[in-house]
Order: sequence, then structure tokens, then C-alpha cells
Amino acid sequence: MHIRILGSAAGGGFPQWNCNCRNCAGLRAGILRARPRTQSSLTVSGDGQNWLLINASPDIRAQLAAFAPLQPGRRLRDTAIAAVLLMDSQIDHVSGLLALREGPPIRLYCSDPVYHDLTSGLPLIGVLGHYCGVERRPVPLDGCSFAIAEVPGLRLTAVALSSMAPPYSPHRHDPHPGDNLGLLIEDEDSGRRVFYAPGLGEIEPHLQPYLESADALLVDGTFWREDEMILAGVGHKLAAEMGHLPQSGRGGMIEVLRSLRGRKILIHINNTNPILDEDSPERAELVAAGIEVAYDGMDIIL
Ligand code: MLT
Ligand code: MN
Ligand code: ZN
Repeated sequence: MHIRILGSAAGGGFPQWNCNCRNCAGLRAGILRARPRTQSSLTVSGDGQNWLLINASPDIRAQLAAFAPLQPGRRLRDTAIAAVLLMDSQIDHVSGLLALREGPPIRLYCSDPVYHDLTSGLPLIGVLGHYCGVERRPVPLDGCSFAIAEVPGLRLTAVALSSMAPPYSPHRHDPHPGDNLGLLIEDEDSGRRVFYAPGLGEIEPHLQPYLESADALLVDGTFWREDEMILAGVGHKLAAEMGHLPQSGRGGMIEVLRSLRGRKILIHINNTNPILDEDSPERAELVAAGIEVAYDGMDIIL
């Protein structure tokens, strides 16, 4: 399978348009060794022809422009995006759907709570009904693997994560299984497996087999510290309140990853996170722990 990281930043991207935190200001001023990053999305293919888009970010237009295999190649109007799958209904993962309105009906794989959000609090599916239309396909959460006929060569298994529905969701304070997913992607030929979880709030026991069996882990890299937004003076929420597990500290992501055998890659990185600065001690700590930081344009081929 071929995974292309289209966007490796959390909501807001890096630099964020209205942010003057150390990272955002430093990147703009050219005094920080760091790469700009667009908002969270990736694409995966088993055959190199038909691609599953996982999350549709507000930066999708630039992301498609940066990756030729997704561009029109066969007909006057064309796309290699055979289907779209959503990990949650956060704005950074869904608002790019609107940019796909000129194309064919969107085959949209999502959980029931995400479908509910997108037909209530943020009614994108109804809106798109007036343009391309959406063919919604449920994502099973019973631990059974499923195939997406339009994207051959892959088997997927979705797992519910204990996390948070977005602020606009009618059930923001009433968590439902499927608000947020982890996804095991398996190549049918090689048997190799990737576990993807950009919104991992908590390491629950049922996740252990997925984490342990994965050849590559693409996991929540949003925050370094639990109180990072508060410390940076840009927000008042703790990582846990946003459904993210920070990297540092006891029980943090570095500790969780330590015993796992797969390739370890952090993704969905918030612009306040010091690991974006390639010269930071925090980044050095990751390097020492064998943990990579995803960047836009990164390819993972398994
Ligand atoms: C999150 O996952 O918490 C988001 O990046 C928040 C957002 O999109 O504003
Ligand atoms: Mn997000
Ligand atoms: Zn910033």
C-alpha cells in the first residue's frame, strides 16, 4: 500500500493564519527550522490507481495540487479519489468536502455519530445534496474488517476511540462510540498493517492489539504537553478536553510507543507543539525515542 500524507497539521495548520505563537511567528520570520504544514488528511491506495481520501481538510485544494496521482488523468472531468472516509466530524477533517462539489457523488464512509453531526450541527451532507450529492456508507464498529470495493487491495478495520465530538456537535457533552475512530489499514497482498489514529485521547485496553500488531503507527501528535494551549497563551482547553493525548509526561504518547514494534509516526500536529521546531530539545527527545514527525508530502509504502 501507498500512503501519502497530504496534511500533517492539526486544525489551523502551521502557521495558523491568526497566530503569533513562538512557532507560527518564527516560521513566518524564517528564523525557525520547521516545515509549514496543511491540515490533517491522508490518502491511501492498494493499487496506485484508486485512492481512498481519509479526511477532507479545508486545505484540500492545495493538497490535491501537490499530489499528481489524485489529479484528473483519464477524462475531461476526473478524479482518482474513489471514496472518502472520515475519522471524526471535526472541522479540519470535514470542511474540505465542500471543495469536492464539482465532482461525482461522494462515496462517504463515516460512523453513525459523524453522519449525525454532518446532517445536524454542520449539515454538509444536506448542502452537498444540492451539488454532487453524497452516497453515505456506514463504517462498521464491531471489530470486523471491511473492504471498499472502489479501492481494491486494502482491508480496513475501524475502532471506536474514547474522545470528544466537535464543539458544534449536538452531542459534544454526550460521547457516542464512533465520534472518533482509529483505523487499521491492511494490505491484502503483503499483509502489512498501518494503524491510524489522529485523535487518540486515551490508550484503552481494546486498542492494544491494534497498536501491537501494526507495522506502522500514525498517531495523535497534537500536543507535547497537556496544558500547551494555556501555556502558549492561545487557549484555555487542556489536551484531554479536546480528546488528545500529549506526548510528554507519565502515560504520554512517548511512553505508550516505547514498547511497540512498528514504525512510529506522529501526525495531526498543532502549531503550538515544540516538536515542529527541528532544533528543539523536544524534537531531539523524539528522535532518541525512534519517533518520527509526519510532514506534508511524506510517503509510507508498505
Ligand atoms: C482537533 O482535532 O481538536 C481540531 O484540530 C480542532 C479544530 O479543528 O479546530
Ligand atoms: Mn483536528
Ligand atoms: Zn501558532
